Amino acid sequence: MSLREKRNSGKKDSGWSVKIERPEELCASPGDYYTTEEVEKHDQSAHMKRTQRKITSRIIDLLQAKPPAKVLDIGCAVGFSTELLEELEFDATGLDVNEKMVEKAKQRGLVAVTGDMRDVKDFFEKESFDFIVSVSALQWIKDQNEIKKVASGIHSLLKKGGKAGIQFYPRSEQEFDSIFWRFKRMGLTGEVIIDNPDNPKKRVVYLVLEKT
Ligand SMILES: C[S@@+](CC[C@H](N)C(=O)[O-])C[C@H]1O[C@@H](n2cnc3c(N)ncnc32)[C@H](O)[C@@H]1O
Repeated sequence: MSLREKRNSGKKDSGWSVKIERPEELCASPGDYYTTEEVEKHDQSAHMKRTQRKITSRIIDLLQAKPPAKVLDIGCAVGFSTELLEELEFDATGLDVNEKMVEKAKQRGLVAVTGDMRDVKDFFEKESFDFIVSVSALQWIKDQNEIKKVASGIHSLLKKGGKAGIQFYPRSEQEFDSIFWRFKRMGLTGEVIIDNPDNPKKRVVYLVLEKT
């Protein structure tokens, strides 16, 4: 049951929080965590590839995105999500702050740019994407003011009527709600979808947003 279904079913939602320490909490920046060795591990991980493709596919469904739309993949890493988008005949571009990750994505034949998602609007033309996706990356932005910059960039780059689907790993339902609120304040409407909300190991959270 997704959270939307759960909310619709009228059950009271008690809120959840994550107990384990994750790389985003243990490392000050993604650069501290994604060493050359870690990039290599990510690149070679069949499990990572499967997971990223599965989440990307769910986002495509949630957005009802159809090729050959223009899609930006924020935090593309080695390009597992971008690659799926290309296979489905979307016109996909990846962006990641880590140069080594971007190099790996390019080696897969993908279009990818090195850049920080907080400055994403500096890398592309205004209103140039039909869709923006981001898979397992936004949790690296820990400061609410910086979330605001990401939200502003996404708003600026989406065409009118364009949509964004963001999956990430918030520490708590409360944090998730406040991030959603930041995006709404930026003029993006939308909803929160949480798959498997009662199972911490299988819970996957999504923001589904539209520039109206
Ligand atoms: C788990 S990986 C994403 C995996 C990716 N979706 C794939 O298909 O392989 C998280 C990525 O977010 C990137 N990242 C973290 N902070 C970022 C930022 N401020 N701007 C751009 N990318 C960032 C990291 O460099 C890392 O490559």
